[in-house]
Amino acid sequence: MLGWNLDLGLDVGSCTTRIYQRGVGIILDEPSAIAFAPGGQELLAVGSEAQLMADQSSRDARVVSPVRGGVIADHQAAARMIREFVRRALGRRTLFMPRFVAALTTDATPVERAALLSAVQSAGARRVRLVDRTLAAAIGGGLAPSERASRLVVSIGGCVTEFGIVSRGRLVWGRNVRFGGRDLDEAIRKMMLNRYGVTLAPATAEQMKLQVGAVLPQMARSRVLMGGGEVYGELFRNLQITLDGIPDLLGRAISPIINEIHWSIAEAPTEQRVEIKSMGVLLLGGTALLQGIPQVMRERLGIPVVRAREPAHAVALGLGTILQDLTKLSPDGRRYGGPA
Ligand SMILES: Nc1ncnc2c1ncn2[C@@H]1O[C@H](COP(=O)(O)OP(=O)(O)OP(=O)(O)O)[C@@H](O)[C@H]1O
Ligand SMILES: [Mg+2]
Repeated sequence: MLGWNLDLGLDVGSCTTRIYQRGVGIILDEPSAIAFAPGGQELLAVGSEAQLMADQSSRDARVVSPVRGGVIADHQAAARMIREFVRRALGRRTLFMPRFVAALTTDATPVERAALLSAVQSAGARRVRLVDRTLAAAIGGGLAPSERASRLVVSIGGCVTEFGIVSRGRLVWGRNVRFGGRDLDEAIRKMMLNRYGVTLAPATAEQMKLQVGAVLPQMARSRVLMGGGEVYGELFRNLQITLDGIPDLLGRAISPIINEIHWSIAEAPTEQRVEIKSMGVLLLGGTALLQGIPQVMRERLGIPVVRAREPAHAVALGLGTILQDLTKLSPDGRRYGGPA
C-alpha cells in the first residue's frame, strides 16, 4: 500500500513477533529470531528460517533472540530484526516510513521503555507510540473500552505471563511473572529424562506439548509416540515415546499462574475484587491455546474464566483497533477511549 498512512501495530514478544497493518490485518507472525554469520554482522536469516537454524544448533550461524523475558535484550539485533520483518511483510511497496504503535510490557522500566522506542525508531519508524501490552490484549480479546466492570486479563506467553486489571478502557494495575510456555516445555523435558533417561532438545519438548495440546487427559489431541525428535543433537527415530501423563503434568505445571491469579484478586481493592469475581478472567497468549486451561482454572479458583477468541493474536488485533483512532490513546499508553 502506497501512501502516507502506513500505520503498523507491532508486538515483539520473546517467542513471536506480530505485525498488524491498519486496513489490512495481521501481515506477519514469525519467531522473534535473527541469524548472523558466525563472528560478524552479516545477516543470514530472520524469523522462522533463523529459528530453524537455532533448533538445528547450526554451527554456520549465530542465532540471536533479541527479546528476552518480554523486553529488548539486544538493541541492535532487535532493530535489525524489526526492520527486516517490516521490509518482508510490506515488500518494497512502500516509499514512506510507517507510523507504529508498539506493545510495551506493563512492568517495563524506563530503560526498557527507551530501548523499545529506540529499536523501533532505528528500524525506520516515522513516529512511535507505545501501548501497554495487557491493555492491547484486552481490547484485541474482545473487551470493549466502554465496559465498566473490572476484569483480570491474563496473557500466558512463552517466557512471561502478564496479569492486569482493566476497567473502563484503562489498565489500572499490572504485573508480570517470568513463567510461560517454555517452562511447560522444561517440565516435559524433565519428565522424559526421568522416564527414558534422554535429554530432549527444547524444540522437541515444545512439539510434544503442541501434539498433546491439552492440560486435561480427556482433551488430549494425541496420546502416543512422536515420529522422531532430537536428543543431544542426534535424531531418534526408533524410540517409542508415549505422551501419556503429559496433560496431567501440564495441568500441575500451570499452578504458578493459578496461584498468581489468586493473589492478584486477593490484593485488589475491594470494589475491583468483587467485580473481578463476578466478571472473571480473560485468558490470552499463545499458551492459552492449550485446551482445558479455563476448566482447570475455573475449578481451582471458583470464578468465570473465558478464553479470548484468538488468544495468540489478541495483542496484535488490539493494536489494530487502537490504530483506528490514536486520539483515544492516553499519553502513557494505558488508556484507550472509555469514560475519562
Ligand atoms: N497451539 C498451541 N498450544 C499450546 N501452546 C502453544 C500453541 N501455540 C503456541 N503455543 C505456545 O505459546 C508460547 C508463545 O506464546 P506467545 O506467542 O503469546 O508468546 P510471546 O508473546 O512471543 O512471548 P512472551 O509473552 O513471553 O514475550 C510458546 O511457549 C508456544 O509453545
Ligand atoms: Mg506476549
